[in-house]
Amino acid sequence: MSALVELDRLSKVYSTRTGDVVALQGITLTIDEGEFVAVVGPSGCGKTTLLKILANLEQHTGGTGILGNRELGGKASDDVGMVFQKATLLPWLDILANVLLPVTLKRRASAADREAAMDLLRMVGLEEFAHKRPDELSGGMQQRAAICRALVHHPSLLLMDEPFGALDAMTRDALNVEVNRIWRETHKTAVLITHSIPEAVFLAQRVIVMSARPGRIVEEIEIPFGRERTLELMGTPEFAALSARIRRDFEVKAA
Ligand SMILES: Nc1ncnc2c1ncn2[C@@H]1O[C@H](COP(=O)(O)OP(=O)(O)OP(=O)(O)O)[C@@H](O)[C@H]1O
Ligand SMILES: [Mg+2]
Repeated sequence: MSALVELDRLSKVYSTRTGDVVALQGITLTIDEGEFVAVVGPSGCGKTTLLKILANLEQHTGGTGILGNRELGGKASDDVGMVFQKATLLPWLDILANVLLPVTLKRRASAADREAAMDLLRMVGLEEFAHKRPDELSGGMQQRAAICRALVHHPSLLLMDEPFGALDAMTRDALNVEVNRIWRETHKTAVLITHSIPEAVFLAQRVIVMSARPGRIVEEIEIPFGRERTLELMGTPEFAALSARIRRDFEVKAA
């Protein structure tokens, strides 16, 4: 397995009007190609900052970071697809055009692009909604479309920042199953930020626990379940034990 992401003592200080804010400190982390990593940590500990640095939307201020064969901190790249807490679809475009946006911001979409977008919509059960506007879709459907948009330009890294936080529990479960399938079918490397420990355990192969600000990595837990996961897994004693262990780490080490 080769590493896709290598962070070495990465740190981030925001300079603000009222002084410096140390958001991240000494983050050393390797993520292998094809791996699924989840990150949990208290509010304000720097999780979104970490994703933004990986997406080159924000620059780190110390240490080094490598993504694929480039140093982080250069210009924004095509290598990354990002899903935010809100779907952030453009209301005046139909779903297909929204999914194609990462392509059309750069060039005219080709027939192959359109086909790739339709394949993604098909994968998440939205092909019939390709020509609807976002407000004609439910919140869960919009978030599925946002996942398609993050994947349409074939990024090597899929970043998800609390993508299902605003959804009801049942929709969230269904989307977790879907994300697991998408991850298996597309062979992407994925980083998920979540406030839900069960969601982290269900989806990830490794869960990273971060401390309160300044955010540091205080624990890494390997999740030994196979790649294919179904909701029954959540009812098993192994699942409960791992979730309880991470909750304890969270309470003892992350505070
Ligand atoms: N653009 C910015 N300028 C200044 N400070 C910032 C900026 N963005 C984030 N911060 C600060 O950096 C810290 C980490 O913020 P970040 O958004 O990364 O946290 P988070 O872990 O994602 O929190 P949450 O779980 O609530 O989303 C916070 O103290 C925040 O106030
Ligand atoms: Mg955040």
